[in-house]
Amino acid sequence: MLARLFTSTTILSRPTFPSRSSLLRAMSLSPSISLKTSFGDLASKLNLSNPDLLRSTNYVDGEWVASSRPESESTFAVRDPATDEIIGHAPDLTAEEVRVAIKAADAARKSWAVTSAKSRSDLLRKLNDLMIANQEDLAKIITIENGKTLADARGEITYGASFVDWFSAEAVRTIGDTIPAAAPGLRNIVIKQPVGVCSILACWNFPNAMITRKLAPALAAGCTAVVKAPPETPFSALAMAYLIEKAGFPKGVVNIITTDVNTKDVGKEMTQNPLVRKVSFTGSSPVGKLLMSQASGTLKKCSFELGGNAIFAVFPDADLASAVEGLIACKFRLSGQTCVCCNRIYLHKDIYEEFTALLVKKVAAFTLGSPLSASTTHGPLIHARSLAKVDLHVQDALSHGAKLLLGGHALPEHGPNFYAPTILGDVPTKGGLLMHKDETFGPVAGLMKFETEEELLELGNDTEFGLAGYFYTKDLARAFRVAEELECGMVGVNTGLISQACIPFGGIKESGFGREGSTHGIQEYLSYKLIAISIL
Ligand code: SIN
Repeated sequence: MLARLFTSTTILSRPTFPSRSSLLRAMSLSPSISLKTSFGDLASKLNLSNPDLLRSTNYVDGEWVASSRPESESTFAVRDPATDEIIGHAPDLTAEEVRVAIKAADAARKSWAVTSAKSRSDLLRKLNDLMIANQEDLAKIITIENGKTLADARGEITYGASFVDWFSAEAVRTIGDTIPAAAPGLRNIVIKQPVGVCSILACWNFPNAMITRKLAPALAAGCTAVVKAPPETPFSALAMAYLIEKAGFPKGVVNIITTDVNTKDVGKEMTQNPLVRKVSFTGSSPVGKLLMSQASGTLKKCSFELGGNAIFAVFPDADLASAVEGLIACKFRLSGQTCVCCNRIYLHKDIYEEFTALLVKKVAAFTLGSPLSASTTHGPLIHARSLAKVDLHVQDALSHGAKLLLGGHALPEHGPNFYAPTILGDVPTKGGLLMHKDETFGPVAGLMKFETEEELLELGNDTEFGLAGYFYTKDLARAFRVAEELECGMVGVNTGLISQACIPFGGIKESGFGREGSTHGIQEYLSYKLIAISIL
């Protein structure tokens, strides 16, 4: 079923893991096959210091493997969003093949769960160090498959490694409780144990950090994992598999797989297989609902970080220059392609004109172009579907009376997926515009006017989503009032950037549940067990 392509490079042998799982050997292994890739060209195009980071095969049970089905039907092409050129091919595993990875994670589960917290912490620290040592190469791989600028991609590796660093420290702090008992002679002890095999379904907008934000706490807690890379950005995930192997994690503890046309069936397998005890997913709310219904059959623990529809509000007492900077960071970061990017922008009527003029001037100065070029500030969207959605939202707002202040069109001269940074003025606050209801996930700022705090809160909370919200004010009492009233999991006051490893990242309402990062993040991968002892 899976073919071993080449054996892994040096791995520290660990006495606690005496023999390699026979899972892969039990499968019908075909002799080494060669996948067609343009990696030779790509490594030199990217000028990678360590070309071995580019992997065209999957990592299962400590082996680099691919499907033994014919190559033409078992791989998929990966494209550079800036040019639409094929940069390589990755295995398109089937649900049946992914079952092998789940079995490998299950086989490694018990021995990994009883390793010392210190040794798990040390391995995570080693992984953090490897990520930092390979930062430039990892960033280049992100840029070529995701389209974010190299500066943003470097920032993502710092961000991604910060989760590994954070959970390396948390691994040794899964401290339990002793609880005074309800009866004499009884002693209550609560211990925390790893949940078990985790299915991690990652997303393309942070090809590295959305994996580490889930995988690092899972490993720190003593769980094993199967990670499904998104089809848009498989090579960043596989580069991490390479570093995980180098760090010396035991075989089967981390398995990283890729799939494209089989995504639906693989998702089903990863949420329905009885060996899996936990599902962690970042992506859209409709897909989250589907995965949750699939996971409900075996009542798996879930944490879902789903769609957002954040507001960004500017009150009349705000520092306008810093609010403009905050909006640019919040709305145009990664060309608007993050779940915590603001989507609905409300400016108080008294500062509307001044704020708008400042914003248009700054956004007009963006430099679009190849994301590999140092002078580029903003790259392409991920693919044509995204571009079509962004344009639909713009046309819809214009048809409802919004005014075009900047952009509003594709930029084919830069490449097939570039869209001009766009500002729309006088966007109506009501009327069911697409950008009221659905995250645009693109570089479009639709500016709306409001008059009172009450009106703002009513508009802001009029959504089924509740991931993040932002506002600018110098009034301390207002800051607390609005922050507490906004129905979302995270609020930025006088800042447009909230993401850090130390915060509990996550939403409420249809933006999902569970928290990633912070001291809370590891709890999502732990079960609490009571041991009640009678000493009478
Ligand atoms: C996301 O878009 O899902 C994550 C954004 C972040 O961590 O800042």
